[in-house]
Amino acid sequence: MVNSLSPSLRRVVVLGTGGTIAGRAASGGDNIGYTAGQVAVADLLGGIEGPEGVVLAAEQVAQLDSKDMGFDIWLQLARRCASLLSEADVAGVVITHGTDTIEETAFFLHAVLAPGKPVVLTCAMRPASSLSPDGPQNVRDALAVAATPTAQGVTVVCAGTIHGAPDVQKVHTYRPDAFSSGDAGPVGYVEEGAVRRLRDWPPQSPTRAVSTLLATEGGPAVRWPRVEIVISHAGASGAIIDLLLQERAAGAAEPIRGLVLAATGNGTVHHALEAAALRAQDEGVPVLRATRCASGRILPRADDRLRDAGALTPAKARIALMLELIETTRAA
Ligand code: SIN
Repeated sequence: MVNSLSPSLRRVVVLGTGGTIAGRAASGGDNIGYTAGQVAVADLLGGIEGPEGVVLAAEQVAQLDSKDMGFDIWLQLARRCASLLSEADVAGVVITHGTDTIEETAFFLHAVLAPGKPVVLTCAMRPASSLSPDGPQNVRDALAVAATPTAQGVTVVCAGTIHGAPDVQKVHTYRPDAFSSGDAGPVGYVEEGAVRRLRDWPPQSPTRAVSTLLATEGGPAVRWPRVEIVISHAGASGAIIDLLLQERAAGAAEPIRGLVLAATGNGTVHHALEAAALRAQDEGVPVLRATRCASGRILPRADDRLRDAGALTPAKARIALMLELIETTRAA
């Protein structure tokens, strides 16, 4: 109960969503044949002491393999985080999450909340049943970041490294240190419960109409615009985009509203795919190019005919475009 706490105590609330960190396998030696999202978040905190002066609380928001993450859970998370962070005694929020889409959830929360307090997502590459699970230490490190008085913004903490939501990307399929911040580099490290910061926390964004809509607890249902990602590759064609445009012209219930091209190198696109993307753009479907490269940003050229997404990955560019579409639809 908040009222019975000493005024000097602060709360960190841990929201559980599932993932490998909450996964279980039949044998302790099996680090891949497990089922994600089995262990309750309250149990993940068992035996973990919070940082000094911090009281921990756990809430189960979802329990799934993050490959199946969807808009409704994002909305629930954004609204719950906004509400918790508005409480004076809440120092920060930790979210336990699967590694596979953690960067998308982090980017979504960053884009919508850009909070002045820390929201720290954490995960594990080995299930809770492993002989040597990485989850407990990751949770401990995430709690340390969430309890740091100067911390702010949405970060992902894994293997002792703090990554900013705009930059973080999963780069390894198996190793516990599976994330990179690319050219930007990590925000810092957690060492024995202490944060060693290397650069600024993720920035706070100006409040946008979309933030008010998405982050208000008990707020209205949201209609998510359909944005598809199409990859450019050797031998690509415009067939998929043309099918999407035909479906739209035929009055589909959920027509395509935007397209992200997962482009090669510095945002280049196969000529056949580019021709189809330009047709889509001419018909009023916004198109964004995002690079397939693991690092670097698209450097714009004067003769570009399709917008670029800078350093965003295709998956993050899709989120950015969806939010832009929600915002423009509401403003119209
Ligand atoms: C998931 O993303 O939920 C499963 C994989 C993982 O957490 O490493």
